[in-house]
Amino acid sequence: MKLTPEQKNFVEGLLSRMTLDEKIGQMNQESPSIVGGFDVPFSELIEMMTDGRISQEEFGRIMSTAKQDFHEDDIRAGLVGSMMVNDPRQNNTLQKIAVEESRLGIPLIIGFDVIHGFRSVFPIAIAEACSFDDALFEETAHMAAAESRAHGINWNFAPMIDAARDSRWGRVSEGPGEDPLLGSRFARAKIRGLQNDMRSPLSYVAACTKHYVAYGACESGRDYNTTSMSVSNLYNVYLPAFRAAMDEGAATVMAAFNDLNGVPCTVNSWLLRDVLKTEFGLEGFVVSDANAIRECVAHGIAEDDRDAGVQAALAGMDMDMGTHIYKDHLKAEVESGAVPMAVIDEAVRRILSVKVWLGLFENPYVPEELIEAYEKGLPEAHVALCRKAGEESMVLLKNEGGLLPLKRKQKISLVGRLADDRNEVCGAWAMAWKPEDCVSVRAGLEAAGADVAYYPCGGPEGEIDLDEADRACREGDVIVAVVGETDAMSGEASSKADISLPGRQRELLERLLASGKPVVAVLMNGRPLALGWEAEQLPAILEAWHLGIRMGDAVAAALLGDVNPSGKLSSSFPSVTGQCPVYYNQPSTGRPGSKSKFTSRYLDAPWDSLFPFGYGLSYTSFAYNGLTVAEQSDALEISVRLKNTGDREGTEVAQLYLQDVAASLVRPVKELKDYCRVTLAPGEEREIRFTLPKQAMGFYDNEGRYRLEDGLFRIFVGGSSRDCLMQEIRLSF
Ligand code: BGC
Repeated sequence: MKLTPEQKNFVEGLLSRMTLDEKIGQMNQESPSIVGGFDVPFSELIEMMTDGRISQEEFGRIMSTAKQDFHEDDIRAGLVGSMMVNDPRQNNTLQKIAVEESRLGIPLIIGFDVIHGFRSVFPIAIAEACSFDDALFEETAHMAAAESRAHGINWNFAPMIDAARDSRWGRVSEGPGEDPLLGSRFARAKIRGLQNDMRSPLSYVAACTKHYVAYGACESGRDYNTTSMSVSNLYNVYLPAFRAAMDEGAATVMAAFNDLNGVPCTVNSWLLRDVLKTEFGLEGFVVSDANAIRECVAHGIAEDDRDAGVQAALAGMDMDMGTHIYKDHLKAEVESGAVPMAVIDEAVRRILSVKVWLGLFENPYVPEELIEAYEKGLPEAHVALCRKAGEESMVLLKNEGGLLPLKRKQKISLVGRLADDRNEVCGAWAMAWKPEDCVSVRAGLEAAGADVAYYPCGGPEGEIDLDEADRACREGDVIVAVVGETDAMSGEASSKADISLPGRQRELLERLLASGKPVVAVLMNGRPLALGWEAEQLPAILEAWHLGIRMGDAVAAALLGDVNPSGKLSSSFPSVTGQCPVYYNQPSTGRPGSKSKFTSRYLDAPWDSLFPFGYGLSYTSFAYNGLTVAEQSDALEISVRLKNTGDREGTEVAQLYLQDVAASLVRPVKELKDYCRVTLAPGEEREIRFTLPKQAMGFYDNEGRYRLEDGLFRIFVGGSSRDCLMQEIRLSF
């Protein structure tokens, strides 16, 4: 995000004409309040549904009669800077009030959670990251931007770039996995896709990178829980994606709910002012997470709302999401001198700058023709990209005896409730999809012309029908069981203490296996699952995640061999939940896990992951040979020969890792430094080259200083973090 000198002048001119109320109004974000239709506050209604006092159906019925308050009067009075609405005509109405009826005509910045697509829902981020395809990351973000803008949304609360190593945390689904380099490349590509196409005023949005920071390190994987870590760990693992997003010009940032080393991110002036705004150079603004300013009272950091608001404003929190605390308290605090006017001016300057850069003053509305065009259905190119993204995001975890791809003449018994539910394909944080755009696995297989019969048998929750499972086994040549999690089992507030296959699905698989027929598991889930038993028992496993609206097409193409799986895991999978957090780039211990007793291991489970980061099979095979490492003045030139040793075309993700063998701080056993996707014909061999800048071989210490230390390094290249060729090199910088 860059403003021209004229745009900067425009912002200053506007700022100089604003009253204090109007300034604080810009710092206030509202979402529609539910008013009427029921006798209790809305928050209690939600609780009543959550704790079962009313059913979901009853809740839905009440909501259908409820009225929404869009805060029109406050918008007219200049007391609202931002709204959260996804209806294009409603957004036009609200913008019209802001632009034509408020004193200064400042348009609203309208935000929404467009995390992995709007109506065109792409794979959840943890899945898309498995493609290791930066061009795809950018393309899907760009399409999400265009669709959002066509619905009056000019600010996407994405990308979510929290590094996450503990899959008990439900929000692992929303981000690009466990690795800081993959996370940084994902972040950069997403920012480019969302923000950089300024050819038309309606082709870009402001990104909101979140959640700043270390939310993914919440203790025990329990959502909203406390986080503590060294400065070095923060800088090396959790901050890189945010630094990368800022380097790419991300317009805004959302602070995380958690405290970091005792200070909630919402009021953490070191994180917001020193690191984000000064060191990383954020030019736009920071917004709190929903209700997070008020939560500082529950954190025990603020005595009351007023105190929380003062602390947040002073820490550099520019916009309040949803509490009204700024609106209700900041004016008095400025007048009393507790909050300097300069703090308010800085926040408003940042917010106005983003609005100006977005072109909202010139183009606040969505043209009616565009709204109508989307009402007619999704453009073919959008559907095609959803399918392509799905195809690239699947990871083949096991394929014994070449069971997959299936042969066209095989009679498939398709099992599992998830296989036939198009409402489950999109996963967490997808809110604008339409059922008619979604393709279940069953529908995908049928459309692809497979000989398929369907037996629901049961799903992640509730009972299973073992007699039906027996029937499925009797009548098919091969069983495809779609098992995993519902979309509600991952995402926000969906942490789990047991991440093995939920419900009675393992029992179902046991029964299927007992038939002696070959069983393929297609996993549909929002987090790495603990698959120790499944990996041992099942001959073939395809990790398909929540792949978005075209899930069924993509899965069918992989099962039938029209697409050769090429995804590699963006997160390590454990054998059992108790191994969490498990990740490949762990700091070297003094006693690395091994078979010997007094090493870093478990008595009752493997010490290492089941399927490591970067792992994924193909229907062909690849061989790496001849790794060479040559030192140039400011980089290492690394080359390796990669050969497709199988009999069909395939795409491999070649991965470059580094180990700093001895340093002043304990370093990871391996860390990803680069990757590339390579498509090879059967028998084809190609030389792959990586340039590793020496500058990228250092690390941050506990003062947050970057250090490049002389000594011995190991360079690894291979097809997963576990399976690599290695060369050593000694360097002095
Ligand atoms: C989530 C954010 C989201 C916000 C607005 C919060 O509960 O943590 O990720 O952007 O709600 O919907």
